[in-house]
Amino acid sequence: MSLTIDYQNKTAVIIGGTSGINRGVAELFARHGARVAVASRSEDKVEDTVTALKALGAEAMGFAADVRDQQAIEEGLAQVQSAFGDFDVLVSGAAGNFPATVNGMSSNAFRSVLEIDLLGTFHVMKAGFPYLKKPGASVINISAPQAYLPMEAQAHVCSAKAGVDMITRTLSLEWGREGVRINSVVPGPIDGTEGMDRLAPTEAVKQRVVDSVPIGRLGTKDDIGHACLFLGSELSSYISGVVLAVDGAWSQGGCGEMSNFLGQFARQMENS
Ligand code: HXC
Ligand code: NAP
Repeated sequence: MSLTIDYQNKTAVIIGGTSGINRGVAELFARHGARVAVASRSEDKVEDTVTALKALGAEAMGFAADVRDQQAIEEGLAQVQSAFGDFDVLVSGAAGNFPATVNGMSSNAFRSVLEIDLLGTFHVMKAGFPYLKKPGASVINISAPQAYLPMEAQAHVCSAKAGVDMITRTLSLEWGREGVRINSVVPGPIDGTEGMDRLAPTEAVKQRVVDSVPIGRLGTKDDIGHACLFLGSELSSYISGVVLAVDGAWSQGGCGEMSNFLGQFARQMENS
């Protein structure tokens, strides 16, 4: 059997798909023929992304919602299903991040990231499940190396993303029975993104990170998009419950450069 990646007549829904990596993922699905829906908090970002997706020739729509608001996510996904039918691919990628030590962050700061990354993913999974094509749908959670590597000034993100990967692995058991696959994609340091701007804010730090990536470069949004195209397609029909690092082997070395820098940086900010 010869298999190709073709998303004609398929629907991909990307939550948190209006900037950075996830927008890159949305655009790649659009370029490969999918109907694409995106969501995030900002109406302007949703509108701008939908316009861009349409300019790529895709049928596209979007809705504004905060993933912490279960009802808003339920209502938005119901609208998408009414317009586009059941989903072939559901990507959950909304996240929040800032460098802060545990001693330097409030309970609310920790809670904010837990609620966006982890509770938000739970909401997207719960609300999306009724609309997933069964059998055949593929769900992708966007995780981070912090899920399995402790990193200074990232306790909130490490805790939240570890939980995201455990939702992925748990649902692969529960939803496998329904013919739904689910995997996590773990981006490494991706060039030109909000995440890198926050965690590697100067050229010098960015270079230290590049030097610590065995493959010798930062990742691109397309690197992550290509992994999502694969995991969303029949090419990966026996892959579920996997946490797939797309990071040029960065995490194999422990991401120590970024951890050291973030610890120093956060302590300086907190003591100033
Ligand atoms: C300490 C901080 C802080 C900081 C915010 N807080 N920034 N604490 N140090 N630098 C605290 C606030 O004081 C507040 O606590 C609490 O966090 C919530 O802040 P709000 O601004 O009220 O929350 P909200 O408006 O909901 O915004 C959420 C956010 C924000 C996470 C704080 O940054 C955001 O919306 N981010 C989305 C975009 C983003 O982060 N993208 C990067 C993803 S990259 P108090 O106690 O004062 O109320 C990523 C991985 C990258 O996830 C990995 C690279 C390798
Ligand atoms: P980004 O540009 O900030 O993207 C985050 C997206 O999520 C935006 O569309 C944002 O739009 C939306 N979002 C944020 N909070 C939300 C909320 N509460 N409810 C709904 N939507 C929300 O970040 P990025 O750097 O590209 O990161 C994207 C994903 O990759 C994240 O899951 C991140 O953890 C992961 N990751 C990134 C890197 C990296 O190098 N950048 C590395 C590892 C993992 P609004 O502002 O409109 O809500």
